[in-house]
Order: sequence, then C-alpha cells, then structure tokens
Amino acid sequence: MCGIMGCVGPASSDAANTVYKGLKKLEYRGYDSAGIAVTDGNAVNVVKKKGAVEKLLPSLAGLNGNIAIGHTRWATHGKPSDANAHPHRSGGVCIVHNGIIENYAELREELSSLGETFYSETDSEVVAVLFRRNYRGDLLRALAETVKLLKGSYALMVICAGEQKIAAAKYKSPLIIGYGDDGKNYCASDEPALADKCKIMTVLGDGCFALISADNVEIYDGGLRPVTAKKVPLTAVSAELSLNGCSHYMLKELREVPVSVKNTVSAFSGVESKLKEAFKNVSRVIITGCGTAYHAGLIGKRYLERFAGIPTEVQTAGEFRYTEPLINENTLVLAISQSGETADTVEAARLSLAKGAKVVAVTNSAYSELTRLATVTVPVAAGPEICVAATKSYTGQIAALYLIAATICDESVKTNILGNINCVPELCKQVIENININTLAHMCAKSRGVYFMGRDLDYAVAREASLKLKEVSYIPSEGYAAGELKHGTLALIDRKTVSVVLITDKELAEKSANAVEQVLARKGKAAVITCVKEVAENFEGRAEIVLLPKCDKFLAPFIASSAVQYLAYRTAVLRRKNPDKPRNLAKSVTVE
Ligand code: G6P
Repeated sequence: MCGIMGCVGPASSDAANTVYKGLKKLEYRGYDSAGIAVTDGNAVNVVKKKGAVEKLLPSLAGLNGNIAIGHTRWATHGKPSDANAHPHRSGGVCIVHNGIIENYAELREELSSLGETFYSETDSEVVAVLFRRNYRGDLLRALAETVKLLKGSYALMVICAGEQKIAAAKYKSPLIIGYGDDGKNYCASDEPALADKCKIMTVLGDGCFALISADNVEIYDGGLRPVTAKKVPLTAVSAELSLNGCSHYMLKELREVPVSVKNTVSAFSGVESKLKEAFKNVSRVIITGCGTAYHAGLIGKRYLERFAGIPTEVQTAGEFRYTEPLINENTLVLAISQSGETADTVEAARLSLAKGAKVVAVTNSAYSELTRLATVTVPVAAGPEICVAATKSYTGQIAALYLIAATICDESVKTNILGNINCVPELCKQVIENININTLAHMCAKSRGVYFMGRDLDYAVAREASLKLKEVSYIPSEGYAAGELKHGTLALIDRKTVSVVLITDKELAEKSANAVEQVLARKGKAAVITCVKEVAENFEGRAEIVLLPKCDKFLAPFIASSAVQYLAYRTAVLRRKNPDKPRNLAKSVTVE
C-alpha cells in the first residue's frame, strides 16, 4: 500500500520529473491519488490530485527544484480526494507517509486545541504539523522528536523550505535508500522505483533515520548515532518491469509462470542445508499468509503432511495472531508472502519468534522485513510482479513448498518427488499457451455468480480461483469443498450462475463428478476443469470442458492454478476491467 519516492539531485536538476517516473512504477501499491512536493532549497511547491499518477503530468512543468518527494496512495484514512492526497503540508514543511498513525485522532485533537488547522481527513497530516512545530533548523532532531510521538507504522520522507536534504524515518513500513549512478541519491518504498537509477541500496532498519543530499547519505540509529550503512545490490531493472508486448502485466506474469517455477527450483539448493537444520526437532508446522499466499499454504499443508508426515495447520495471518496459537520451540512457522512486507504476516512471524518457534519465510523479496526476521528464507524467484493480483509468485510459492516438503521427507521417496517437479515448467507452459478457456470466460463474464469447487488439492485451487476472479472481474464468487455443495451453496444455483468443478485426481473423480450432476439437476451452468479424460468424456455436451494435461496429482495444483488464473484474466478483459489495477486493492498491504 502507498508507494513513496524521493530524489535529491545537484542544483538546477529536475527532481519532480524523476519522482513522477518512479511513482509510475509504484502504482501497484495504490492508485487512489498521487502528489509531488518540490523544493530548490527555498520555497516548497506541491501538486496533488485524486486518481492515478498520470493526472500529475500536466502540472509537472510548474514544479521546479532539485529535491522532490512523491506519493501514490491506497486510501485507508479518508476517501480518495485531492485534499487527502499526499504530500501534506504545514507551512514550509511537506511530508509523504506510508503506514498508519494509530494515535492520530488524539494528536489531531491536541494540535487543534493549540490552534492548528487540518485540511485533510488523513492520519498522516499530523506528522507535517508536528514536524513544523519541532523544527528549529535541525532536520534530524525535528524528525526524531516527531516520530517519538507517533504510534503505528511509518515510512516517512520530509522536505523543508531552506533545506537541501530529504529527511527520512522508518518503522514497520519499508524504506530503501538508493545511491544513484547519476549524481543523485534516492529514497523509496520499494525497488522498482529506482530501477536503472541505482545499483546499490541500503535497506533502512526499523527505528532508523536518514538524511539524503545529492552527494551524501547519512544514516542514524534510533539514538541518533551515525551508523555505517550496509550496502546491498538493487536488483530491479526496467526491462523486467516492462509489458514486453503484452496487453497487461497479468498476462505477462502468467506467461512467466514456467520461469518462476524453474528459477525457484534452481535457487532452492542454496538453502537446503539451513532448512534441514531448521526442521530438526520440529513436531508441528503452522503455515500462515494472506490472500493468495494463504492459498499456496493450503497446498503446502498437503505436501508437508503427505511427503514429510509433519502435522501442519494453515491460518490466515490476520487471524493467527488473535487465536492464542499454541506455539513452542518444536513448532515451525512457515510465513508465506510475495512482498515479505504484509503487516499481518510479518506480525505473525514476530509473534511466533517471541514464543520460541522457528520461522521459515517463503518470499519473493530478498530484503524484506519478513526475510530480516526469519530463521531461514526460502527464495521464490518469480522476479518482479507488478499486477496487483498475484500469479507467478503464487506458483513459485507452491514450488518452494513442494521443495521444502521434499527436502525433509524420507530419502527413499525424495528422489522421485524432486524429479517430478522438473516437469512443471513445461506443463504450465502448455496450459498457458494452449488452453481454450474462452467459452468458459464468456459464461463467467455474463453470470451472476461463479462457484468453484473441488476436493483435496482441487479445493485449495478452487479457493484461489474464486479469489482471483473476484479481484479482477468483480463477479461474486466462492470457492468451496465439493462435498459442501449440497450443504448450502446449492440454494444459490440457477441458470444465471456458473459452477466450475475442478477434477484433477482420478481417485476422487467419481465423487467430484456428483457435484457436477447436482448443479445440472438444478439447472445451473456447469464447467469441468480436469486432467481426467474419462471425466471429460462423461460430461461432453452437458458441461463446458477444459481439458488439462495429464500429470501426477501433486503437480496438478500448478497447472490447475495457471488455468483458473488465466480464466480470471480473460473474464476481466471481457468485462473491460483492468486486471492490473483492481478497484480498492493494493499489492502489498503494510497495515494491519
Ligand atoms: C494483497 C494483494 C494480494 C496478496 C496479499 C498478500 O491483498 O492484493 O494479491 O495475495 O496482499 O500479499 P503478500 O505480499 O503477503 O503475498
């Protein structure tokens, strides 16, 4: 949620334009409003507008200065509007903020009683006012005094009339400092904003501060002691962030599913021994994550129990923390997150560590908060994912979970299992390139509701299918266990609904086929996504059939997921929705 970027260049350079381009690459973090504040060391000017970053373009010519900060917003406190857009200003001070100031209401009340006026409904505006009141010619001190009063999470950037630096602070929301190859220095919520500008960066630690000028970056710890910045490579490159001839990032990223799996398999060998060590004496696993990552966890549970015989539970991270989980040093918590920054998942990991558990992170983001906390990180090598709806990162997560289970299972079965996964990239490629899902996409696009169901692993995929369709096409949808159809959902079935039954496991085919019959008996429209030829033949002419390549049942989630994610994409496009930027959503949610 909320993308932020700052740039400080030499005198007379154009910082606003650079920040504008960086914000465009961060729009997956939110697209409710955008704004940029600029200074040349004298006055500060601001432009902010409701809507996407592009709305700022006509005003850029009027924003002159070598120092700029910008923001693209995912609204939490206050509706999307010009007034609620960042940067927020108080006198000569402008701030951008990502996170949530939990005690903003009391701070606002207190400041109002002191005569301060507020112009927005946001939690962030108090930061600008507090900073202005604390500023007495020392950026660092003013920022430290300001954040001392805040409760919640923040990645903050501040510019101030008369100053030639950006001051930044971070707590629980991501912030990186980029050392430019072009005589400029940068600051951003994540790497894509700085692609092709910097090759090295510093990941600012929690409670730390930075002062950024064109030729220098100073980092301070929470006690305002200067610290030597740890520099790491910045990996994002523009070529990987382009659409590469595709109409949408979702399509491009679906086409990258085979590479995501292949690269995740290659990267895995680097962590195998650490992982074995982490699993020593582990008697129970809890998998946690949010959204699509949680759905990958449902599949991971099956792998861990079947391959490695370890009792495994799966909980959404937002629930996990409030259920007083029974955790001890023999528990291993697998925290799955594409971004590694999702607040609920990070907090679940923190709680698990505090209770003595080991935490294994499965993430696409090598320098994320989750990676920093985890005992071991298993990399998902999906590459940058721009579409808000996760696709290739999810398939990469399933690959990582498969490899984890295979690594800790009995040697006698291990070789076979590990050999199998090498077929996955080719199988997914076949599905994405050859699948004929257009008829089903048309059926879904016209329907009043789409119900996905399946048994065992197909049930897990049905949950993901439903989420993806809801996210990008806005059609009401549910994913549930096929056996549950007759216990409630059947009441919703009629001619205007589509029921999609996933049947990839031959052993469960007969039972799951019952669900199709029940839907047809109630005059619902039915579709079957299957790898089982006999099932396809049975329903030919009665239901829409999508035939998938035959494969081992534990590999079927890879191809079935690719099929249903592609279905969601096609349906969204038919309904003229932009699948890359679903309404009201953001890619990484760094607030609880
Ligand atoms: C948001 C996104 C989802 C994503 C979830 C978890 O809700 O819209 O697509 O699955 O966050 O994100 P994570 O980065 O933790 O995998």
